[in-house]
Amino acid sequence: MPEMKPNLTANMNTNLAKVKPANILVFDKEISSVPDIVKLTVGEPDFNVPDVAKQAAINAINNNDSHYAPGAGSVALRQAISHFMQDRYDLTYDPETEITVTIGATEAIFASLFTLLNPGDEVLIPTPTFPLYATMVEMLGGKAITVPTAAPNFALSPAQLKAAINAHPTAKAIVLNYPSNPTGVTYSSDELADLADILAQTNLVVISDEIYSELVYTGRHVSIAKFLPGQTIILNGASKAGAMTGYRIGFIAGPAGLMQRIGVAHSIMITSPSDPAMAAAVPIFGSEAGRQATLEMKAAYQERRDYLTSRLTKLGFTVATPTGAFYLFVKLPADQGTDDVAFATRLAKEGQVATIPGSFFGAGGEGYLRLSYATSMENLQLAIQRITNFLNH
Ligand SMILES: Cc1ncc(COP(=O)(O)O)c(C=O)c1O
Repeated sequence: MPEMKPNLTANMNTNLAKVKPANILVFDKEISSVPDIVKLTVGEPDFNVPDVAKQAAINAINNNDSHYAPGAGSVALRQAISHFMQDRYDLTYDPETEITVTIGATEAIFASLFTLLNPGDEVLIPTPTFPLYATMVEMLGGKAITVPTAAPNFALSPAQLKAAINAHPTAKAIVLNYPSNPTGVTYSSDELADLADILAQTNLVVISDEIYSELVYTGRHVSIAKFLPGQTIILNGASKAGAMTGYRIGFIAGPAGLMQRIGVAHSIMITSPSDPAMAAAVPIFGSEAGRQATLEMKAAYQERRDYLTSRLTKLGFTVATPTGAFYLFVKLPADQGTDDVAFATRLAKEGQVATIPGSFFGAGGEGYLRLSYATSMENLQLAIQRITNFLNH
């Protein structure tokens, strides 16, 4: 095993050196050693990939679909995505110039930020939020400006947005994520229209992470691009809608002027996504069978959400209105204090239920826990039994 020459540490990117290991992963590792623990920590679907997608990948392999695809992704997948955006969200994106297929939504976030940021540039990020946005901004030498939103619903209000813009008039972009990881809360059409009115007065690029758009339980998902098409880039993908996290298919849709630059950054980094994975995603976005598969998963999530919400409420937790995704963001019962890390650690070690402390998602999350219901009903029932026992002894 080669041992690195010690002096090489000085050769490394200093922004990267500042990136700390993700709290969530460190915590998850620590509590995973608890025997027989029930995990409500996982941020990925527990369903198998729909048959229609698996078969498409198998066909692609058998047809020797094994060459460099266009950097923006296969034409078939871009057409399927264009159909999906029109059919579900009434948004028109040209597959030729306005859609790029990425390696999961993760690369979509990175490629977008990389395209926009120079060292020192600011990005507004409402919290609590998915921690990767700030990590990537910092890694690129930018400054993540967190904008804490307020309980109980954690939606960015027009007043909070205005105050953040006034305090950071030269910020380059704002990241919105709805339905939200970690809160499960999404924005209504009216709320988005109000935010869009304010954003239209600025030159902020709206990076709109809509990876959970197909998991909205009340009403329909609306994108802020409906109100602000010229300055919004939508990030989405097959990971959640198709239960295909391991296939690594995401996408970006936006105005051609932005997409052209993003496409340059993206293709330099990855050349092109994998052919069989792209083939698998085509029916998820472009076929009735794919739509039905997503709807079946959504119905199961909804049943679990309803169960978990009612049981946790009875146990004294306050639940942020969980209208989408597969997370509940719950406030600790009044008699349990506000130290979410201590509570989650005890619940894991003594109660054998794993959750994620809310403060790991940034300001505003203190005193909360994130619970994922991307796990079986049996596991959720067992978790509730154990949480009940834990609180009672
Ligand atoms: C809000 C949000 N954005 C992006 C991602 C990353 O998605 P992908 O697996 O497609 O890279 C996740 C994954 O959990 C997420 O929660």
